[in-house]
Amino acid sequence: MISPDKLAALQLERLQWSLEHAYRNVPLYREKFDRAGVHPSDCRRLEDLARFPFTTKEDLRASYPFGMFAVPREEVARVHASSGTTGRPTVVGYTRRDLDTWADVMARSIRAAGGRPGDIVHVAYGYGLFTGGLGAHYGAERLGCTVVPVSGGMTPRQVQLITDFRPDVIMVTPSYMLALLEEFEAQGLDPRETSLRLGIFGAEPWTEEMREEIESRFAIDAVDIYGLSEVIGPGVAQECVETKDGLHVWEDHFYPEIVDAGPDGTGELVFTSLTKEAMPVIRYRTHDLTRLLPGTAMPAFRRMERVRGRTDDMIILRGVNVFPTQIEEIVLRTPGLSPHFVIELSRPGRLDVMTVRVESAPGTPLSPVSAGQALARIVKDTIGVTVEVDPVAPGTLPRSAGKLQRVVDLRDN
Ligand code: DLL
Repeated sequence: MISPDKLAALQLERLQWSLEHAYRNVPLYREKFDRAGVHPSDCRRLEDLARFPFTTKEDLRASYPFGMFAVPREEVARVHASSGTTGRPTVVGYTRRDLDTWADVMARSIRAAGGRPGDIVHVAYGYGLFTGGLGAHYGAERLGCTVVPVSGGMTPRQVQLITDFRPDVIMVTPSYMLALLEEFEAQGLDPRETSLRLGIFGAEPWTEEMREEIESRFAIDAVDIYGLSEVIGPGVAQECVETKDGLHVWEDHFYPEIVDAGPDGTGELVFTSLTKEAMPVIRYRTHDLTRLLPGTAMPAFRRMERVRGRTDDMIILRGVNVFPTQIEEIVLRTPGLSPHFVIELSRPGRLDVMTVRVESAPGTPLSPVSAGQALARIVKDTIGVTVEVDPVAPGTLPRSAGKLQRVVDLRDN
């Protein structure tokens, strides 16, 4: 394990290289640094990074498709893109060496999560422009696992492959894991009896309550993996199975900062890549809300707390801030309700209305109406907002095969 001094020295050396590389090869960084009156040579200590300007998703969009690349296009071995709900996708690129780095940090992540060489790994993250599938794939191969590249969707077949191939590890979004759970039950199979011992879940926010649900219903360990395309993909930070206490950031490659922090240190996570060649990012604003804590299972690296949500997912309902994860916590704690719900925002009159449309739990003796009333009461008591609850029959809400869209906004603006 690297000592704190050695890590800091390595980070500074790499940071200086990354700033110089971005400034020299990407016009957008050169303009931004010049405008802010800073030069890569001004970075003499890690703290000097704070003098450099932020990079935003808008910067990446404005440079669509390849304007952020810092190497000739011929040296870009692969591109990925994040869908982006509106407008142009965000394109990211990797050199051969970047792909190697990515496989290394992913292998490290899977290991920290509890995966071991020789394990069979079922990858149900989507393959394609999304970084989840291929990121998990090459990381698991690098660790020495047997990879089953299933991708998302075709849920009955996923269950068949898990039953027949007997994987040790599954990598998938937590919401799709719930869809798999239902499919096991629909086929009359006991999800606790699978060969799986570990799930590595990420790409969307989830809660401790969801961890308990998945762990108990599948009899596996469930750990959190974090990443984003702009920084590399999955494998930026990983929760360790022995502590399950937030995610260690692989700080030798990705330097984290928290900006606009509140009193408890929670703020927006910002990353600077330290080793990326094709597409360095300098102080990239993730919009993800978390805080940094000291390392535990891996003392050299700081931890980030489980991401509570994105600044752009925060709902402001009659002056109160609400995150979908807060609703998830309460739904999962309310007897008679299933974990399947969506949040609908509408404006029937002058005021915004938030409706939680939630499936009742199959086979519960509680009436859906009283379970719904209980949910509304707990939301009011704990978050302080009034919500409408619309309990619906089990299996009636759409299931996602990848990242879940929790919020449906029906307001005009
Ligand atoms: O979702 C990369 C990934 C794939 C991570 C598979 C983990 C597993 P993007 O599509 O660019 O990349 O989306 C990145 O997803 O900024 C967060 O808002 C959210 N996100 C990713 N992991 C988590 C997590 C991939 N563990 C965006 N908890 C990020 C909460 C997460 N949110």
